[in-house]
Amino acid sequence: MGDLHDTKVLKHPFSDRVPIRSIVCRPDGGAGLGGQLVRIGGWVKTGREQGKGSFAFLEVNDGSCPANLQVIVEKEVADLSSLVHTGACVSVEGVLKEPPEGTKQKIELRVGKVLHVGPVDPAKYPIPKTKLTLEFLRDHIHLRPRTNTISAVARIRNALAFATHSFFQEHGFLYIHTPIITTSDCEGAGEMFQVTTLINEVEKIEKELSENPPPSEADIEAAKLVVKEKGGAVAQLKSAKASKEDIAASVAELTNAKENLLKLEERSKLKPGIPKKDGKIDYSLDFFSRQAFLTVSGQLQVETYACTVSNVYTFGPTFRAENSHTSRHLAEFWMVEPEIAFADLEWLLDKCLDDMELMAKLYDKGCIDRLRMVASTPFKRISYTEAVKLLEEAVQGGKKFENKVEWGIDLASEHERYLTEVLFQKPVIVYNYPKGIKAFYMRLNDDSKTVAAMDVLVPKVGELIGGSQREERLEVIQQRIVGMGLPLEPYEWYLDLRRYGTVKHSGFGLGFERMILFATGIDNIRDVIPFPRYPGRADL
Ligand code: 4AD
Ligand code: MG
Repeated sequence: MGDLHDTKVLKHPFSDRVPIRSIVCRPDGGAGLGGQLVRIGGWVKTGREQGKGSFAFLEVNDGSCPANLQVIVEKEVADLSSLVHTGACVSVEGVLKEPPEGTKQKIELRVGKVLHVGPVDPAKYPIPKTKLTLEFLRDHIHLRPRTNTISAVARIRNALAFATHSFFQEHGFLYIHTPIITTSDCEGAGEMFQVTTLINEVEKIEKELSENPPPSEADIEAAKLVVKEKGGAVAQLKSAKASKEDIAASVAELTNAKENLLKLEERSKLKPGIPKKDGKIDYSLDFFSRQAFLTVSGQLQVETYACTVSNVYTFGPTFRAENSHTSRHLAEFWMVEPEIAFADLEWLLDKCLDDMELMAKLYDKGCIDRLRMVASTPFKRISYTEAVKLLEEAVQGGKKFENKVEWGIDLASEHERYLTEVLFQKPVIVYNYPKGIKAFYMRLNDDSKTVAAMDVLVPKVGELIGGSQREERLEVIQQRIVGMGLPLEPYEWYLDLRRYGTVKHSGFGLGFERMILFATGIDNIRDVIPFPRYPGRADL
């Protein structure tokens, strides 16, 4: 973005346009740029005609920062009525001037030339200047980035994504692109979206068959008869020593008849409906010749690289077909997943804390107290068993939870938030969960009841991070997979990592949208991802 202390206005590197940020976000608010000729482009936030229609004030925003630039256009320069509507796009050239004493702005633009106007009909524009709720905006997903909140979230999201990569790159982690289409269920919870072309194929075939019905038995018998007749004719000509030409013509007719029969037989095999074998869907006919899904986590695949280049991470979209209608769940969300060889859980707990501290520090632009608190306060660490004990004590003391508290339960969001928001008022790391509620890959503790799992709970969000030490012992992990009722076959490649050169290793997954909720204070996860997907909705 350049040095904002410059007296020179910096142009956008790919156009002759000046980003509004480089004017109004300078420490002097742009005052030092008076007299400069610039070209800007953006969308009108508010506009009004003044002085009996002799000039117009426009507040223009180009998304480079939250602040607007005040633009003044005289009626001699352009038709003011098309410029002043909220949502109109304008590209203008003019001279920056310091406004009269006492005005809020430090600089404004006096327009000499209007280069482009993208008008709006204010009677129809769905995003008027009035305050709109985030719920309302979710029904206008393609236009909501034009609001201050959603564009600010986009900038924060961008900053956090960049900070995530910077952090791992500075610490020697390799960014691995794990697949989006996968054939293994990482969490073993069966909450996957299936990737298949069988349904499109069926639709295609059914449409084809309805337009062009398949041949009947009689059609095929008739075609067979023709082949027989043509065959007979060829034989007859040959035995009668007919001319070469006559035989060739007759052979050609026989070939045609055979081709026709083959086609009919092929078409008669076309059946409506999903292909089945032994009463089950025949996935060998599917695109990947087997069942495939959208990934729920890149962890299993990223482990293949952790077990050779030691420190890796993946950061990509993940998909879960859980039917959760909460403000903390999406069907498509982004996850940051580091995986570290030669690390056991003790080591990771420290590192995990650092990650959070550093990420909070990197994002200090709109820094909220909560972020400062997280960056400066050591996280509370308690075992799952201790956490349940504390929750039971709270219940005895009169606290009411919707979900029953007892050892063995999966902590509900209300429990997590009670621990982090009420009891400790800081981030809490809960570790050593019962094996029954956690994934098969988590390392079994010596008590054989719990696994070396850890969740990081933070105020406002509840679970932000889920991680664990991985089970590196072949026999134990095999037993865990089978014990959870999962098939071994799809995980054989993963077991190879234990068969050949196994190593203690650990990792975690941080829900990127939940981190943005935490950082911004926004309530609903559907408002911190550009195109939210959740049960019943996948707009655009
Ligand atoms: O705890 P989870 O399920 O852990 C894993 O997927 C591991 N394989 C990660 C690893 O060890 N590499 O998910 C990790 C985090 C959660 O703590 C939560 O922040 C987020 O992902 N998350 C969701 N965010 C939005 N919508 C959903 N439906 C989410 N499910 C999980
Ligand atoms: Mg979890």
